[in-house]
Amino acid sequence: MSVESEAEDRPWQVRASVIVVAIVVVAALLGFVVLPVVQGRSAGVDAFSAICRALGLQAGSPAVRQPVSATRAEPVSLVAWTEEVIARLHNPNEENGSDLAANICASCHGADGVSPDPAFPHMAGQSAFAIYKQLHDFKNGARGNEIMASVVEQLDDEQMADIAAHFAYFTKGALDPTTPVTNDPAIVRLVERGITARGLPACASCHGAHAGGPIETPTLAGQRHEYLAAQLRAFAKGERRNDIYHRMRDIATKLTDSEIEELAAYYAGIGLYQRIK
Ligand code: HEC
Ligand code: HEC
Repeated sequence: MSVESEAEDRPWQVRASVIVVAIVVVAALLGFVVLPVVQGRSAGVDAFSAICRALGLQAGSPAVRQPVSATRAEPVSLVAWTEEVIARLHNPNEENGSDLAANICASCHGADGVSPDPAFPHMAGQSAFAIYKQLHDFKNGARGNEIMASVVEQLDDEQMADIAAHFAYFTKGALDPTTPVTNDPAIVRLVERGITARGLPACASCHGAHAGGPIETPTLAGQRHEYLAAQLRAFAKGERRNDIYHRMRDIATKLTDSEIEELAAYYAGIGLYQRIK
């Protein structure tokens, strides 16, 4: 090669190198910074973790929130039905309960326990034991929910018991459980008798009034449709796993999507809310 043509080639070599380096830098920025941060934002993953995950320094995908990151491994629930807790739920400090409920909970769950928004479950008609257990689980992380975790952070066991008792006793009589609106025989049978061949127990064996299920069994009658369906799906996917002995996860994984919708409709339709004193 002549000296002249070498001199002619040099600027091209430099340009080519610059272009290659620029492509590598842009690709790295796109792949390790821009895309992970943008995708991570919509999945609720912060920018730093998203970049670390994209670089392989942290486990998990930058585009997917780890569904159970806020949830503990088993044992799932740390609630203990001690004599003190039970006594407090039966004999709460009423003033304390109603003040805390009005100041902290009313904006989302309604002053009278009837929530104004489908995203928030009703408290009206719910049992004190069920409310207390859920608050306890939100607090120790057995049930993951960012909103409720921050709400209960500041509350101790006695305050949680007072609030639970407040909603339960204050709204007693809010439900009229004699008004089911679904007559779909398949759903009524699943609720009342279960489906033995599929290993599905009757919902009513635990969730009915005086059914003798576990003490923390929540009342489903009159609860919001959206909330009931969302909880059944969360149990089925294992995103909610604070149910002791997997009771609800085992059941929810066997339900079809349309059964979940119809069961939610069935329970949401029972017990229309009456005027609450
Ligand atoms: C900013 C809104 C907000 C506030 C304030 C709030 N909650 Fe909630 N609460 C929610 C949401 C949203 C859920 C549903 C969580 C889920 O989907 O897992 C929830 C769920 C619950 C549950 C579970 C219900 C069930 O049937 O399992 C209980 C119990 C509860 N809240 C009680 C309370 C109490 C008591 C207070 C006041 C100390 C309170 N919440 C304050 C939004 C709120
Ligand atoms: C063996 C008793 C048992 C049976 C049978 C049962 N459940 Fe449950 N269910 C529970 C308990 C206990 C909880 C509370 C879980 C916890 O501790 O968080 C619960 C919670 C739920 C919740 C969440 C409610 C809330 O307020 O967060 C829904 C929805 C539900 N069950 C629906 C059903 C349906 C529908 C069936 C029938 C297909 C059914 N359950 C059968 C015991 C049972």
